[in-house]
Amino acid sequence: MVNNAGLALVGPAEAAPEDEWDRMLAVNVEGLLHVTRAALPHLVGAAADSPRRVADLVTISSTAGRVARAGQAVYSLTKSGVNAFSESLRQELQPKRVRVGVVGPGTVATELSTHLRPGIREAVAGQLGDMELLRPEDVADAVVYMVTRERRVAVNEMLVRAGEQTW
Ligand SMILES: NC(=O)c1ccc[n+]([C@@H]2O[C@H](COP(=O)([O-])OP(=O)(O)OC[C@H]3O[C@@H](n4cnc5c(N)ncnc54)[C@H](OP(=O)(O)O)[C@@H]3O)[C@@H](O)[C@H]2O)c1
Repeated sequence: MVNNAGLALVGPAEAAPEDEWDRMLAVNVEGLLHVTRAALPHLVGAAADSPRRVADLVTISSTAGRVARAGQAVYSLTKSGVNAFSESLRQELQPKRVRVGVVGPGTVATELSTHLRPGIREAVAGQLGDMELLRPEDVADAVVYMVTRERRVAVNEMLVRAGEQTW
């Protein structure tokens, strides 16, 4: 099971509409909690019954969950929060052989930035300049690596930055 849904409505806190913060908390945190809770019995069952005798729960976090930067306060709050949630679950579920992992991408070329307010979107694009961004398949590669390890191996955390990314 991969927790991937997320919003990154970044921008300075002082001018941020509260609605943007609410939406990030609703999707990045609450949505993830509800989906995870619903999936847990199935993951435990799969780890017990499947031929590989292991199951995987992977959450797509962000480098923003590792390094908080100006303009990303609430996004970082959600991503560092899901990191902590995942680490706690990892310890709980390890005896049942449900592996809990976090993949933290850097900047990926997706539709994420299309949800930004005018002005913020241009500012973010300006910060990135002509940096070559990750592609979605680069993140998928990390997930595939994590979940295809043998049962004796648990890769619980991977950061995947764009090669030119400094943060
Ligand atoms: N792009 C980046 O630079 C970057 C960097 C680090 C981490 N991430 C993380 O990567 C994950 C995927 O983001 P992305 O870059 O692929 O962005 P994206 O292209 O905007 O995709 C976001 C995904 O989240 C889903 N989603 C959004 N709101 C939802 C809701 N209310 N209910 C259910 N699903 C919802 C969307 O579903 P629909 O298509 O159905 O709306 C879509 O599949 C996110 O967790 C994001 O924080 C992205």
